[in-house]
Amino acid sequence: MIIFKKAADIGIFLQQKRQNNPKTGFVPTMGALHQGHISLIESARSKNDLVVCSIFVNPTQFNDPKDFQNYPITIENDIDLLEKAGCDALFLPAVEEMYPAGLENKKTYALGYLETVLEGRYRPGHFQGVCQVVHRLLTIVPADRLYLGQKDFQQCMVIRKMIELENLPVETVICPTLRETDGLAMSSRNMRLDKEAREKAVEISRTLLHIKSSLKAGDLSELKTAAVEQLNRTGFKTDYVEIADADTLELIGRWDGKQKLVALCAAFLGEVRLIDNMLLQA
Ligand code: PAJ
Repeated sequence: MIIFKKAADIGIFLQQKRQNNPKTGFVPTMGALHQGHISLIESARSKNDLVVCSIFVNPTQFNDPKDFQNYPITIENDIDLLEKAGCDALFLPAVEEMYPAGLENKKTYALGYLETVLEGRYRPGHFQGVCQVVHRLLTIVPADRLYLGQKDFQQCMVIRKMIELENLPVETVICPTLRETDGLAMSSRNMRLDKEAREKAVEISRTLLHIKSSLKAGDLSELKTAAVEQLNRTGFKTDYVEIADADTLELIGRWDGKQKLVALCAAFLGEVRLIDNMLLQA
């Protein structure tokens, strides 16, 4: 695997490769890689001639400075995992390389409804930051396919919207959420949980599973309230448990029994904020 720190250098590398017209799969990450990230690399490996990963802890998408400061960094291990998964190139830029004109006065994206609900509501500015960095990354790495995880359900919809707004010629591939054996969705932030918090963390996926198995047409408010209460009893401070239309993310209070639904949750265990989601019909 070749490691590039400069946009110009990976640009030259990709241009040389392009002469043979290879299909390029791109997996953007913030590092502290786990098997969930690696499943995206493997998926890209199986469908493309060239696989590129980026690791960049993007300051513009952190609305909480403490979350940014405490974001785990495990670069040696990341490189090792990427090598083993058959990644061809890693783009590992510094902040100045990604934002040469500084962090202020960035372009804004007309994300509309999508940034007013759920993560958009609880993390103001977060999705603008995600779009800024993914747009810039796609300019540096003009891939044929962009690999994203369903773990960040709303992020997938936001990035698709940005791609549509900007008319970028890239296909998005959404990969399923990888979980620990007890059901906890893999996440870089799980590294920050102590033993006691790690044991409690599984309650998020249990709660989503409970919603899935109890779902009935009609009013959904009791199901949602009970889920929040269950998480708070376990020791979480819950931002939200919501049920939404899986195609539009419209929040659903009454279910007609047909609409395709997704349950989404965000909750703090101490200072660590965890998110998860589950499709309810599958
Ligand atoms: P990060 O949290 O590092 O995630 C990188 C990619 O891995 C995302 O597409 C995410 O959805 C996916 N992923 C995370 N956990 C997963 C799991 N358990 N199973 C499957 N896929 C998983 O998401 C970001 O970084 C950033 O916002 C980024 C898109 C890189 C922009 O900065």
